[in-house]
Amino acid sequence: MPLIPLRNESEDQFPLPALARRCYGRFGFPALPARRSYCSSNFVQTLDGIVSYRDLPGRGTAREISGGSAEDRWVAQLLRAHHDALLLGAGTLREEPARDGRGYDYGRLAPGWRAYRRRVLGRERSLVIILTASGDLDLGTRLFAAPATETWILTTATGARRLQRQTAPPVPPRIVALGRGLLAPAELLRWLRGQGVNRVLCESGPTLYAQFFAAGLVDEEFRTIALQVAGVAAPPAPARPTAYDQLSFRPESAPWERLISVHVAPPHHIFLRLRRAGRAARG
Ligand SMILES: NC(=O)c1ccc[n+]([C@@H]2O[C@H](COP(=O)([O-])OP(=O)(O)OC[C@H]3O[C@@H](n4cnc5c(N)ncnc54)[C@H](OP(=O)(O)O)[C@@H]3O)[C@@H](O)[C@H]2O)c1
Repeated sequence: MPLIPLRNESEDQFPLPALARRCYGRFGFPALPARRSYCSSNFVQTLDGIVSYRDLPGRGTAREISGGSAEDRWVAQLLRAHHDALLLGAGTLREEPARDGRGYDYGRLAPGWRAYRRRVLGRERSLVIILTASGDLDLGTRLFAAPATETWILTTATGARRLQRQTAPPVPPRIVALGRGLLAPAELLRWLRGQGVNRVLCESGPTLYAQFFAAGLVDEEFRTIALQVAGVAAPPAPARPTAYDQLSFRPESAPWERLISVHVAPPHHIFLRLRRAGRAARG
């Protein structure tokens, strides 16, 4: 795995396998917050910050952004192995049908990472948590047929009724009605912690992610920068989003990030790990 560490100030908490240790170096997290899950995120974005070619039918996937990078997939596995659960918005599932229309098993881990996770986190199966207010999710997709992946769907009473009208899939999800409309990020992270989810990795699209970011609830951000330029969509097609959706800041209040690590996979990919630094860190 030709991933080259350039800088790494991470905590040194986990006994990474030898190859991962060589490519990545130290890996760990700060202490957990008192009453909620710790929240990380992972996005792959272009040089101009775009995370989806959603205006191009069938091409609004993270893979189109990463260019199918093997190193990006490897980092995704590293991160999934070290979090208790993965958080997704229903929009990502709807927009990523895969070539055969059956979607992806987002919890899939290579056998080596699965064994490592069992040993280190004591978790046998991957846990994928999906948020939907509407309940507009197809339970016939691959995710709900994967025996090694447990799924929870957090929704509204209306969403739960809609989901329960579908035929139960091979591996039925746990459906939980938590609110009447959109679920508030702070309450959600408190609820998840109460369910034993210490660390959650947000791999949703921008709609869900921006709510967590705006609420100051993203503890750290993992970013793959793919060195391609996407540019803008031609109107009237939907705009190509950044990870931060419609959020808007002024220079004096814009959140700054602090660099924790940077790795490169030449010639096309840079991997950043960032933590929120509050206001501008300029002199
Ligand atoms: N480049 C990358 O790394 C990356 C990563 C992930 C996704 N993406 C791309 O992002 C695009 C999808 O973006 P998106 O913004 O539409 O997807 P998203 O954020 O994953 O999903 C949005 C949906 O999640 C549900 N939701 C959001 N906030 C909620 C809340 N507070 N409570 C309850 N439900 C909530 C809603 O579902 P309902 O409408 O059902 O109520 C909403 O429509 C896709 O093209 C995907 O490929 C890229």
